[in-house]
Amino acid sequence: MPIEIQVVADADALAREAALVVTGVVAERPDAVVLAATGNTPIGCYAELARLRATGSLDTSRMRVAQLDEYVGLAADDARSLYGWMDRALLAPLGIGSERVVRMPVEGNDPQAAARAYDAAIEAIGGIDLAILGLGPNGHLGFNEPPASADAPTRVISLAPETLASNARYWGDGTVPERAITAGMSVILSARRVMLLVSGTPKAAILDRMLRSAPDAALPASHLRGHPDTILIADRDARPAGSLEA
Ligand code: PGA
Repeated sequence: MPIEIQVVADADALAREAALVVTGVVAERPDAVVLAATGNTPIGCYAELARLRATGSLDTSRMRVAQLDEYVGLAADDARSLYGWMDRALLAPLGIGSERVVRMPVEGNDPQAAARAYDAAIEAIGGIDLAILGLGPNGHLGFNEPPASADAPTRVISLAPETLASNARYWGDGTVPERAITAGMSVILSARRVMLLVSGTPKAAILDRMLRSAPDAALPASHLRGHPDTILIADRDARPAGSLEA
């Protein structure tokens, strides 16, 4: 199946359309498992979901969430914890308690074993119904830095220079941990539905490359072209009119 592409006017419209996709999945399956990215792009969608919940249009009382990625080596209370970010942006506003979350287990001193435990936990809850993803500046998904094959498992990864530079936007002092655990491409591609969100002019070139590329480890997001049910929602800045539609 080709990727379904929806181009919207701006970041606000992207947030609304993305939230509608999530709402649809949760309406169909109230205990849906949602693999949730942090990063700037999905934050508007999460805020819209909180608004829909507050107005009674979304029931999150059974919804489940899986963490997409996490830095390795941070203290539990470090302000850069991606779990903390996900908690503030998504879990708390939607009233989703930790008992309904598959957390990326980075604490302890055997991150490889933690990665295997994560894959087992995802399998044990029946897999992922919807993966909500942003697009990295180098075409990564989660922290699947290139090269990443379609069958790459959850694993420890050294962040690419482009990712370190891009993640520096998130943290005031600009320091970004250099290692992370990411849900593998195999986990992402096994999601029953994938929603890729892309916003802003800086993403236009990598998005265009992704949409022209055959599935290729050098551009991990291009593996979505082999996924059976992916929707891409991009705003006009990321997907200008006149781009070759793929
Ligand atoms: P962004 O990050 O949503 O903050 O642009 C996306 C990514 O790097 O995966």
